[in-house]
Amino acid sequence: IFETLVKGLQRLEYRGYDSAGKALNGINNNNIVLIKKNGKVKALDEELYKKDCMDLEMELDTHFGMAHTRWATHGEPSALNSHPHRSDKNNEFVVIHNGIITNYKELKKYLNSKGYEFESETDTEVIPKLIKYVYDNREREDLSFSTLVERVIQQLVRSPLLIGVRSKYELSAEHIPIQYNTGELCSPLSDIITLHTHTTRRISSTTNLQSRDKAVEYYFASDASAIIEHTNKVIYLEDDDIAAVVGGKLSLHRLNRLAGEVPVRAIQTLQMELQEIMKGNFEAFMQKEIFEQPESVFNTMRGRICFDTNKVILGGLKDHLKEIKRCRRLIMIGCGTSFHAAVATRQALEELTELPVMVELASDFLDRNTPVFRDDVCFYISQSGETADTLMALRYCKDRGALTVGVTNTVGSSISRDTDCGVHINAGPEIGVASTKAYTSQFVALIMFGLMMSEDRISLQTRRLEIINGLRILPELIKKVLTLDKNIKSIADELYEQRSLLVMGRGFNYATCLEGALKIKEIPYMHSEGILAGELKHGPLALIDKHMPVIMIIMRDACYTKCQNALQQVTARSGRPIILCCQDDPEVSKNAYKTIELPQTVDCLQGILSVIPLQLLSFHLAVLRGYDVDCPRSLAKSVTVE
Ligand code: G6P
Repeated sequence: IFETLVKGLQRLEYRGYDSAGKALNGINNNNIVLIKKNGKVKALDEELYKKDCMDLEMELDTHFGMAHTRWATHGEPSALNSHPHRSDKNNEFVVIHNGIITNYKELKKYLNSKGYEFESETDTEVIPKLIKYVYDNREREDLSFSTLVERVIQQLVRSPLLIGVRSKYELSAEHIPIQYNTGELCSPLSDIITLHTHTTRRISSTTNLQSRDKAVEYYFASDASAIIEHTNKVIYLEDDDIAAVVGGKLSLHRLNRLAGEVPVRAIQTLQMELQEIMKGNFEAFMQKEIFEQPESVFNTMRGRICFDTNKVILGGLKDHLKEIKRCRRLIMIGCGTSFHAAVATRQALEELTELPVMVELASDFLDRNTPVFRDDVCFYISQSGETADTLMALRYCKDRGALTVGVTNTVGSSISRDTDCGVHINAGPEIGVASTKAYTSQFVALIMFGLMMSEDRISLQTRRLEIINGLRILPELIKKVLTLDKNIKSIADELYEQRSLLVMGRGFNYATCLEGALKIKEIPYMHSEGILAGELKHGPLALIDKHMPVIMIIMRDACYTKCQNALQQVTARSGRPIILCCQDDPEVSKNAYKTIELPQTVDCLQGILSVIPLQLLSFHLAVLRGYDVDCPRSLAKSVTVE
């Protein structure tokens, strides 16, 4: 169990690595033991292999374990603040939790007044304390495990939450069995059933699995990568599900369920392969994923573009196409890199759909209470499909009657399930915290959407054909860009001690500036700004001198002349630009301090090629600065809190 939990945590570490902890207990000895450690899972692993812990595993004859990696929101990263949290010194109830409890201060005050003592600064700790409070005050009632959990959840004012609860007591069960919807995905149950749920959903497992003779083991996880080594059969829980294991039997309860309601869930088969979430010969997942891009963009297009007939079919959208065509505007919503994918494709979508296209950062969209109407179509772009801000924007638009479309990389994620329709980008699991291959696949998926929308527009056929031909050779061109890696490493050798790096461009390549600058902030922790070259003279020019490192993107497109003007303005102030340009462009090269020459493609696809050198640069800068590429400080892969 030690090893299963450590491996599972390591596979999930990309989601949070401030601190980690475990709760374990045995068959013969019902004591629940907590082991927690500040820092990465490795620190916890080392702790576990100390003699005391090994003795403990033997002594416990462990049959239950629960583990968590933390991304701190309330309270600094420390062993004390890491999960699991407990109800009391005897560890009667222990809890792991993702999400935020908004009313934790009020609850804490109330529980304090009742004599419950807190040991951490976290919001999470109110959950086990509240469980114990409800349990202690149950009077003579036979309180089942799920009722206990349900009563506690009802007291929480919270963001979407996922909790795991372990009880030391043998509580009763209501045994509402799950009806398995044995759809096409289902094959006969194996000995191991995995329950796989999302971070935003709640799941609980409890008490006293007394017998090892039971053939069934249950795994609960917030991410498929944690359990893929053990099984590929999963049940996705839905919002308001409470799953319980009592006396070795699994049952499922609905929060506020109606009498007689029997949950029906499908057992699904995960397509993920273990090797997809292993680093192989690469130094870091980020590096591996950058180099996977010829295949990942190909997989995004696979089976969806017919190069003979120039037809593009996104199966998840085709039934809604008429409705989408009737809408009055498209709103693209995302965070971080996913937002940049919307910026990158906006112009092409405006051109191909002939609709107004708004691009929105999810948090700002909500802060503004943006007006949304029934005849809007809202796209939610999210690699993980779990980002809290994006998910809340989805709920906001749903409430206002808009048609909602998910663009995600995670089958079964909250966004893919909660939207009316959508596109899976099929980039394969992305583990590196800095998003790379998901960006280029989101880019391609959105362009394909534009192509699908414009199929019957006679005036757009030449343009469509040009883009479709561009997509056909895209994987080959990406391979060519990747051969520049050595060149980019040598540029990184020159830049890695700098404090700042500006990235400048406009038109179709503006998004590359934003995305490149984000990569350079995220991984090498270097100050970086993506600047619209059109805005240069309205402020950023004041930063330019011979010391300030500047990358300029100057491609042969409609903005070429304007970009050359910007270049003149930079060199006139002794700037020494490193220029990303098309192959064989002497006019630009002669003014460059250095050049990175890229193959030329269709203007609206060029951003897919121009971002790759910046992804590689970010990687090399981080390695040279001595940072852990896959675990950037303070960042997490899926941000499931507001
Ligand atoms: C976090 C990640 C970013 C990602 C953003 C949006 O900030 O560190 O890499 O771009 O979330 O994530 P999503 O899963 O919604 O694309």
